[in-house]
Amino acid sequence: MFGLKRVCFLCHLFVLIVKDVMSWVVPPKKKSIGDDVILITGGGRGIGKKLVLEFATHQPKHIIIWGRTEECLAATVSEVRKMNINCSYMICDVSSREEIYSMAKEVEAKFGNVTLLVNNAGVVFPNSVLESSPQQTEQTIRTNVLAHFWTIRAFLPPMLEQKRGHIVNMSSMLGWAGLNGASDYCSSKFAACGLSEALYDELTRDGDSGVTVTAVYPYHVDNSMFAGVATRFPSLFPSIKEDYVALKIVEAVLTNRNKVLLPKLMYAVAFFYSIAPVAAVTSIMKLLGVNKAMEQYHDHHRKLHGHS
Ligand SMILES: *[C@@H]1O[C@H](CO)[C@@H](O)[C@H](O)[C@H]1NC(C)=O
Ligand SMILES: *[C@@H]1O[C@H](CO)[C@@H](O)[C@H](O)[C@H]1NC(C)=O
Ligand SMILES: *[C@@H]1O[C@H](CO)[C@@H](O)[C@H](O)[C@H]1NC(C)=O
Repeated sequence: MFGLKRVCFLCHLFVLIVKDVMSWVVPPKKKSIGDDVILITGGGRGIGKKLVLEFATHQPKHIIIWGRTEECLAATVSEVRKMNINCSYMICDVSSREEIYSMAKEVEAKFGNVTLLVNNAGVVFPNSVLESSPQQTEQTIRTNVLAHFWTIRAFLPPMLEQKRGHIVNMSSMLGWAGLNGASDYCSSKFAACGLSEALYDELTRDGDSGVTVTAVYPYHVDNSMFAGVATRFPSLFPSIKEDYVALKIVEAVLTNRNKVLLPKLMYAVAFFYSIAPVAAVTSIMKLLGVNKAMEQYHDHHRKLHGHS
């Protein structure tokens, strides 16, 4: 009956919403990652390194980290091995598709199929649309977006075959709202969000594929990647610590959450942002000094800066 179907659908929606609200109050049971082979891009430093160490406390079967700088990678690996967890690194520049594909083959041969992929590597160049060099724009798009396509294409098929896997995407609040002076970065993060949502939709189209997608949207993280970024009322919108971000991301993975905004205040900000007039949002950004944030960053880092 038509009417009954509609009522049932509304009940179904209601149950989904109540479940989600409940999960904030009563944290859901955490899954085990004891059998997981984890691959984290950009795991040598920054949030990537914190993530490696946080995942290690949950005793996965193996953690593989990719990055460009050998000293950082080796240092992270030795810290993890001290915790008695299998950990290896490979030099891989994720801005190169060929390198991703050939390293992915090596990973499978050496450590088996990856079951938990964290697309974390990213770069940022603080430039306006006109100041940015073509090389910087292209590198940002290759590292922050295209690399996600290639790692997904490399690691997703076995996950689907085994109906088991998890893909984590590091986006940013700058993948939600644009900011002057960060045009390359914002564009790349918006694209990564689109990819993440489309992938989620693909993976849930025919019921449960067994592969979960988690997209993470942190607000300004207090680390070297964004050192020098400052807003006017830091006590109202404090930058968040890497340790906190890593802890929350691992928690989201272990409880299969699909979307995480950090800190929680960002849910309110995102809601306001989606309904308020554009001019009102701009006025508030100006009041908070957010619109000058990248300028200060620029002054702080005359040189190019990135992380991987
Ligand atoms: C470490 O990796 C080896 C080979 O992949 C595996 O046999 C072993 O069980 C792993 N060790 C732990 C502690 O999981
Ligand atoms: C990886 O997954 C593929 C597809 O499921 C499978 O054919 C292959 O044997 C797996 N590799 C290992 C080392 O288990
Ligand atoms: C999320 O992950 C998917 C699959 O790995 C990827 O296509 C997408 O770029 C990622 N999105 C974000 C938000 O990083």
